[in-house]
Amino acid sequence: MENGKMQKNYEYDHLFKIVLVGDHGVGKSNLLSRFAHKEFNLDSRSTIGVDFATKIIQVDGKNIKAQIWDTAGQERFRSLTSNFFGRADGFVLTYDISNRPSFDHVIGWMRDIKTRAPPDCDIVLCGNKSDLDNDRVVSYEEGKQLAEEYGVEFFETSALTGMNVEKMFYGLSTTIKRKRIDEFEGSGAAGSGASTAE
Ligand code: GTP
Ligand code: MG
Repeated sequence: MENGKMQKNYEYDHLFKIVLVGDHGVGKSNLLSRFAHKEFNLDSRSTIGVDFATKIIQVDGKNIKAQIWDTAGQERFRSLTSNFFGRADGFVLTYDISNRPSFDHVIGWMRDIKTRAPPDCDIVLCGNKSDLDNDRVVSYEEGKQLAEEYGVEFFETSALTGMNVEKMFYGLSTTIKRKRIDEFEGSGAAGSGASTAE
């Protein structure tokens, strides 16, 4: 947010930590760069360890600072990246609709999340590269059904065209906000654990 008059901690009402997970090459880094910077890179480098970007968005009239952690999908980083799961408010579990193994591995990623993440975190299942319809090997219905089995939201996205990328991140942030903040404030308790502005 560009506002010179605002002091640092008046910049946003709540801070949400969101973690992108999923197999190597499914498009996590490009989903983040599309959302945070409106950028897409056809030959992006594989992420080493963990990266992050932030974006301030408005949800129900509140300024939410979305701090989005982009983890490496390569197996060798798995124990390192899962260390970041513990304090996450939400996860974007991504697969590639043109890559069947990346969809089969959702079950393993989900297990990691359930093992390492807070039990009340919110998860969206994200089938990325929806622009590659000619190479599609995972149908929309399969993705939707798996999401229903896990009781999580589902989106098909394209980091290349931008389709549904904002909708997905806003959807997740709205779910987190309504669950965490509204219920908490509704209970009459003061403070939120996140940075607040009057
Ligand atoms: P790791 O960092 O290794 O875990 O991979 P990643 O999940 O971050 O994948 P990345 O964003 O680096 O994308 C891998 C490749 O897929 C790159 O060549 C991207 O250009 C391409 N890609 C990412 N998203 C899309 C998409 O929505 N459509 C198409 N057609 N290609 C995409
Ligand atoms: Mg990456």
